Amino acid sequence: MKPTVAPFPTTRLRRMRKTPALRALARQNTLSVDDLIWPVFVMDGVDAETPVASMPGVTRKTVDRIAKAATEAQALGIKAICIFPYTGMEARTEDCAMAWDPDNLTNQAIRAIKAAAPDIAVMTDIALDPYNINGHDGFVENGEIVNDRTVEALVKMGLAQADAGADILGPSDMMDGRIGAIRGALESAGHQDVTILSYTAKYASSFYGPFRDAVGASSALTGDKNTYQMDPGNSDEALRLVARDLSEGADMIMVKPGTPYLDICRRVKDMFGVPTYAYQVSGEYAMIQAAAQNGWLDLEKVMMESLLGFKRAGCDGILTYFAPAAARLLNA
Ligand code: PBG
Repeated sequence: MKPTVAPFPTTRLRRMRKTPALRALARQNTLSVDDLIWPVFVMDGVDAETPVASMPGVTRKTVDRIAKAATEAQALGIKAICIFPYTGMEARTEDCAMAWDPDNLTNQAIRAIKAAAPDIAVMTDIALDPYNINGHDGFVENGEIVNDRTVEALVKMGLAQADAGADILGPSDMMDGRIGAIRGALESAGHQDVTILSYTAKYASSFYGPFRDAVGASSALTGDKNTYQMDPGNSDEALRLVARDLSEGADMIMVKPGTPYLDICRRVKDMFGVPTYAYQVSGEYAMIQAAAQNGWLDLEKVMMESLLGFKRAGCDGILTYFAPAAARLLNA
């Protein structure tokens, strides 16, 4: 007896892969310039830039150069720029007072970008580490990072950034209760339209190394951030944090780092359906650049594939140092 075998595969999935047109029709996820948030490093001085050794292609820029870069980013269609200050040891104190100084580097940069490129959204980072003598995101008392006193300082820092014209505040400190406290203060101060993109699921990651070089924090940091940033083994905790931050008034949620935590992005998006962002952090950027410099990976292709991965995982956007390069390719 002859076995009854179908003479051809009933489902040929390769049919839809046959031509670029069919592949485009079937494509579920795409990357667009609307998805890009560009993190930049601002430093003191005039008309100058210094390279960040561990982040090829990234420089720290003076405020005037940041304004120029924002103009270029706006022309490329990038929707937001996120400011990080580079601070030397002389700007760091135990009371972190520079963090809420209306004329600190971040606030100068916000005003300069708003004047030069009014259509681009300006995002900030709220955490004490750029101004803290010991490099921590919160105040240190008897060797411990204290929560509630830190939150009071973060509120002052956020208000100063909103006063300077920030559109999106990004609390990255991982203290408990900071979203509610910042939201309440913004409402009382007439800043009800300033949005909050919470660094909600921020892991205690070793992928931040190059960033800490870029902002001058590597030598300042004593110990680690394990008592406030998340344990890399946890995932249910991320969902509790998202529920908590949304209930306190967060408009947008971030998962950080990105690529090693795409499962968290997907769970957050599936469970909450809120604007969800990932931060492709400095270490992820450095790995791709290093492999490309060795000729081991194709820089442009891997960059675009890594960014598309975030969209597939459910993200609405990505903070990435590749933003200008990706935008140029998308516009080409
Ligand atoms: C600090 C902060 C960090 C990053 C963004 N904000 C570093 C840290 O928590 O030590 C990392 C970004 C990157 O690695 O690209 N509040």
